[in-house]
Amino acid sequence: MKKIGVALLGLGVVGGGTYEILTTKREYIKENDGLDIEVKAVLERNLDRVRELGIDEALVAKDIDEIVSNPDIHVVAEFFGGVEPARSFLIKALENGKSIVTANKEMFSKSWKDLEEAGKKGNAGLYFEASCVGGVPIIRTLTDAMQGNKMTSLKGIVNGTTNYILSRMSDEGVDYNTCLKSAQDLGYAEANPTADVDGFDSMYKNSILSSLAYKKRVPLDKIYREGISSVDVRDLEIGKELGYTMKLLAISKDDGKMTEARVHPAFLPAEHPLSAVKGSFNAVFIHGDNVDDVMLYGRGAGSLPTGSAIVSDIVFAGKNTTHRRFAFEDVEVDDSSFATDFITEYYLRFAVSNQGEALSKITALIEDNGVSVERAMTKGDDVIVVTSKSNESKMQAIVRVIERLSAVDCLGALVRIER
Ligand code: HSE
Repeated sequence: MKKIGVALLGLGVVGGGTYEILTTKREYIKENDGLDIEVKAVLERNLDRVRELGIDEALVAKDIDEIVSNPDIHVVAEFFGGVEPARSFLIKALENGKSIVTANKEMFSKSWKDLEEAGKKGNAGLYFEASCVGGVPIIRTLTDAMQGNKMTSLKGIVNGTTNYILSRMSDEGVDYNTCLKSAQDLGYAEANPTADVDGFDSMYKNSILSSLAYKKRVPLDKIYREGISSVDVRDLEIGKELGYTMKLLAISKDDGKMTEARVHPAFLPAEHPLSAVKGSFNAVFIHGDNVDDVMLYGRGAGSLPTGSAIVSDIVFAGKNTTHRRFAFEDVEVDDSSFATDFITEYYLRFAVSNQGEALSKITALIEDNGVSVERAMTKGDDVIVVTSKSNESKMQAIVRVIERLSAVDCLGALVRIER
């Protein structure tokens, strides 16, 4: 039976989950995949954690060089998070012929091209299923199940922390900080949760997924980003009354010429399948020209769900004798093929001093600019307007003019509506 030696870099939440699965499923994988996968080394400073997981301390390596020079290690799985030293260690591993497995979306989205180069040099593979949407096999779906399609759009709830926060705020009326604290305690949030709540984590994942979907590198600086830290629970409530559910969405579209990519909170109609995705669950809704709509749903974070994707990658890395190369990483990014504006419907809330006057002036101003007002109402001291589709740039300009009306105090919320 083929023997595969694995090194685990870091034994945090996902590293621990991976060790647990590799241990409990060792015989099962032998029977089903014909591979005997053994953890040959770990790189972890916290010896208490090593003991807690029941790992033999003799497996603790002194540094990355000891790991990359060990001929019994074939696959290096990384769980550090953050860009360095993960990036340098994985480049070293690849150059030394070790395939890499990673859940590190930040490092991967920022270093894909360099990792690809190192993989070519060392004839080793890059496996990153766990980097996006935890245990949900979205990467394998995009790379291995959609070959007969030109993918045209992707819409996903790809961050468990923010979905957990928005779901609890909406369903239980619990405040933002309490929800964030629970997400951290449950192990969903990043070490620095601003990566979650400000949309960076979703942006990294959007870059990886959209690049795979459209076979074109979608760099981070081409993705519009906005997080949930200024979401007001009032808008979740009003949205619900209007038939919408708020989600932090990673969105991208591609027509073969132009690509558009963004991350921001958005209202979805309550009947949209993504609206039913609650708590830390994630889901991705993709569209291909032949397959039509496909939706994948599952746990996007947590030790065992993410460990499940890591173990699957270790099996693939161990089985494959040739590794997939991502040819688009060799192509220079063409700036002119990325949209700088986008079109959606809008939910707007303005704090006003004179409701009747404000309502008629706001609606008139929007319609004078060629955008239809689908719904308009007052609610307490606020005016709420739902519009038809508009360019984002145009809507931002309209809002700036509305803010200058004497009857209007300020913009309370601008939420894009997706369908
Ligand atoms: N912080 C991430 C999330 C972990 O909440 O989804 C999984 O990438």
